[in-house]
Amino acid sequence: FEAQLIVDRDFALAPLDRRLFGVFVEHLGRCVYNGIHEPGHPTADEHGFRGDVAELTKELGATIVRYPGGNFMSGYNWEDGVGPKEQRPRRLDLAWFSTETNQVGTHEFMHWCRKIGIEPMFGVNLGTRGPDEARHYLEYCNHPGGTALSDLRRSHGAEEPLGIKFWCLGNEMDGPWQICQKTPDEYGRIAKETAKLMRWVDPSIELAACGSSAYDMPSYGVWEDRVLEHCFEFVDYLSLHSYFVKPPVGQGSDTSTEAFFAQIETNARYIEDTVAIADAVATRKRSNKRLKLSFDEWNVWYRARHGEHLKQAGWPEAPRLLEEVYTAEDALLIGGMLTMMMNHADRLKVACMAQLCNVIAPIMTEPGGPAWRQTIFHPFAQAARWAHGEVLRSVVKSPGYANARHGELPYLCASVVDDPATGRTAVFLLNRHLTEEMDLSITLRGLGAERRLVQAEQLHSADLNASNTADAPDRVAPQPLEGIAILDERLSVKLRPASWNVIVTQ
Ligand code: AHR
Repeated sequence: FEAQLIVDRDFALAPLDRRLFGVFVEHLGRCVYNGIHEPGHPTADEHGFRGDVAELTKELGATIVRYPGGNFMSGYNWEDGVGPKEQRPRRLDLAWFSTETNQVGTHEFMHWCRKIGIEPMFGVNLGTRGPDEARHYLEYCNHPGGTALSDLRRSHGAEEPLGIKFWCLGNEMDGPWQICQKTPDEYGRIAKETAKLMRWVDPSIELAACGSSAYDMPSYGVWEDRVLEHCFEFVDYLSLHSYFVKPPVGQGSDTSTEAFFAQIETNARYIEDTVAIADAVATRKRSNKRLKLSFDEWNVWYRARHGEHLKQAGWPEAPRLLEEVYTAEDALLIGGMLTMMMNHADRLKVACMAQLCNVIAPIMTEPGGPAWRQTIFHPFAQAARWAHGEVLRSVVKSPGYANARHGELPYLCASVVDDPATGRTAVFLLNRHLTEEMDLSITLRGLGAERRLVQAEQLHSADLNASNTADAPDRVAPQPLEGIAILDERLSVKLRPASWNVIVTQ
């Protein structure tokens, strides 16, 4: 079947914020311990961080990393993770029913961030703790010196301030599973007061308030509205979280791949509805401020989601939790999600794939053994590598399929990012048709006639359930995309059914 994608140099949506390619590292399962950090591993550095995982993280191209949680954040005492390691307490982590050894804390994590060249995004505990600990933590991290807390940091070997710019005001405070869940009014008030104090300590920081923990939370909408009523003037971002699921067969839900892929549109609605609520609050407050969004947890997560995947007996250290094994189908949805997120670059400025290593992650490891790329690694790495510059408004003309929630959905999902600095244009394409090839014409209007191909890759697997494992780490990986014809401003290409494609021209 035939489809068309048209963009025009003069119709730019917004500059793409590179922080859209963020990830998330939580003290959860084997994400930190026996994940990014494994002192006995042959590739470990002097701080115990695995070199192979560090290299894969660089290849992934992640630009910002959220830390130390997640749910873990709501019970965390930052003081436990600084100072001499042998004096750090072992504690029960009530978020994941594990034992936290605190051998990795603020300074170790900052070492890892510098090693990778990635910006840190830290969070403060607004579950068991509040504004006082938050302002102390910020003072410890970012104040130059001459106070008890900043001098304590210096005594721990960090003479210079850590310079952590982006801070999350708690995590998923609407969720009954959260350590010290709050009502929207309780959270809105505490977020406001915490934000106020933190900005007084360091006016240069950026702050994100918690939106709902999911679009389908019963309190979604009311939560955003009430929270922002309290803290709108004091925060820069509102967070969104979304985990994509495939319902189990036999429970009456649509278990098709097409319905799975329709979550791209569901999440587009989630972003647009959240923008609408934030702007309604602005209107009510007679404010010109336009709040930004931080989609600071997103991924596929539905297999390793119950029972022993969430909790193991005996308070183990670094148990195997949430170790989702991703398929080719998941990678296609991730690609489509990335196009959708780029196409919301006017308001969506930050996003973190959850998580980075072992826990619902693009990178997997075995203790003492290899590290490898899951299927979802690839679309993320390609987008992070090639999407620079301005997002152009995509006009898509494509046949589609019927979806119960969204009506007619085009088979083609696409985004186009143009970098005037290099003259490069990256086109990201998902063919959602499961059986038919797409005969695609791409018009890059006003981007220069004499274009040459820089890179063209395709991710496709005849078996949508195929996954990458320690034994077969490259079963699902991008291959060269052949057969692209370029004539003036027009590219034509055939996209295989159920395929993710990246075309870069200059
Ligand atoms: O990413 C796993 C968990 O999912 C996070 O800790 C929490 O914020 C969310 O519910």
